[in-house]
Amino acid sequence: MHIQFIDASATPAPRLVVRVVNQDAIPADIEPILTEGAKASRFSGKPGQIFEGFVERGGQVVRAVLAGIGKSDADDRRAAVEKAGASVVAKYLTSGEAALAFDFTGAGLSADDAAALLLAARLRAWRYDAYRTKLSDEQKRSLEDISVIGASAETEAEWQREAALAEGVEFTRELVTEPANVIYPESFVERCRKRMADSGITIRVLDEVEMQALGMGALLGVAQGSVRPARLLAMEWKGGEAGGKPMAFVGKGVTFDTGGISIKPAAGMEDMKWDMGGAAAVAGAMLAIAGRKANANVVGICGLVENMPDGKAQRPGDVVTSMSGQTIEVINTDAEGRLVLCDAMTWVQREYAPSAVVDLATLTGAMIVSLGSEYGGLFANDDALAEQLAAAGDASGDKLWRFPLSPVYDKLIDSPIADMKNVGPRFAGSITAAQFLQRFVEKDTPWSHLDIAGMVWADKPGATWDKGATGFGVRLIDRYVRDNLEG
Ligand code: BES
Ligand code: MN
Ligand code: ZN
Repeated sequence: MHIQFIDASATPAPRLVVRVVNQDAIPADIEPILTEGAKASRFSGKPGQIFEGFVERGGQVVRAVLAGIGKSDADDRRAAVEKAGASVVAKYLTSGEAALAFDFTGAGLSADDAAALLLAARLRAWRYDAYRTKLSDEQKRSLEDISVIGASAETEAEWQREAALAEGVEFTRELVTEPANVIYPESFVERCRKRMADSGITIRVLDEVEMQALGMGALLGVAQGSVRPARLLAMEWKGGEAGGKPMAFVGKGVTFDTGGISIKPAAGMEDMKWDMGGAAAVAGAMLAIAGRKANANVVGICGLVENMPDGKAQRPGDVVTSMSGQTIEVINTDAEGRLVLCDAMTWVQREYAPSAVVDLATLTGAMIVSLGSEYGGLFANDDALAEQLAAAGDASGDKLWRFPLSPVYDKLIDSPIADMKNVGPRFAGSITAAQFLQRFVEKDTPWSHLDIAGMVWADKPGATWDKGATGFGVRLIDRYVRDNLEG
């Protein structure tokens, strides 16, 4: 989707013009036929409401659209303008129209809100048709260009930053959407290398020999049943103070999760191609941060493995030794995400001494039972970090809800043979998973775990996404970095 800023007098005049309208404030300067039509159809300018009419302007028939953005003093103004941008695009995406213009004249939008509307429009337009060879013309996306009329210079500047964010979200969605025969640990790394080639991001990759030498027995134990070798990917962005400690984001990148020997049922197993959604969010966020040249030091880590059943796969009851030296009894090979993350966490803490560590993972089905697809679960050993993340969630739309950590949950994963087991009892499954990870936090490093199992993939279209990959996490990380790390 190409977005450009034009003058009201630009030629040729756009044939599909969307005027954004505050609630109960249909502008006085539009054609009476539109005002009448809008009234007759009960259009009042509620967020996401759309009215369409045809008028003649300058001897040309124009498809004139009114798009509601709600009350100008609404608390959730940002969500409202996003809804407007997204619903307009959803309506015209496959309409046959190739271009539309948003007219912001007189809407009184702040630069932030105007840019948010455009971001939502662009994100809602994303789709991945790489494997569809038989789409009819009506099914194909027609809308390619958006022009913006009546925007301030500040809106244009703000859009440059939001455009970098859109690139990041789109990259994450692409990684998540690709099937597991296309995206596996090595190809995930190669996609990132290619996409980040001119971004200023430094890429480091550990292969299995290097991970073996570091003692990453937990991560490698998961990978040993797959013919696809594991990788640990580190993406470094040094946009902040020279030599300053980085903030670390760590993503679960299980490129396919069969469950291993504790194999999952067949129904719905195809969903487990998106068990790398945490890693994809970290990669997309790095792209966004670098794309807008963020004034911060950030490192993104992806623990990349495929979890398969095989003659060589690890068995329930196996004991593995993690890089931290702690031993783990693998009760259930399907609780593999924590085994991958624990070694990635140890490595990032020892390698980078980060100011804080935040992991993102599609870790537990229990989290979907708790929160559905409205909030990601947030765990933290540090209240300030938890509050900053929750605030970034509210501001970005990638919302988070905090869950408890406590020694009373921690003892549920004590093992009779090793330092811990990788699963607790059936109840509180998301919390015991977080307790497991907390055992790998070193030197009181502020740490937070985000269980985003319910957020990565959508069964129906949402605010700024169609069904499928949402890109959850990218906007959250970008907002966190903007509000807390950049001076
Ligand atoms: N990747 C899954 C969690 C998951 C399930 C994410 C459904 C998204 C949708 C994870 O590796 C897993 O299998 N977790 C198990 C843990 C259990 C064995 C303690 C689960 O949630 O059932
Ligand atoms: Mn699993
Ligand atoms: Zn998994």
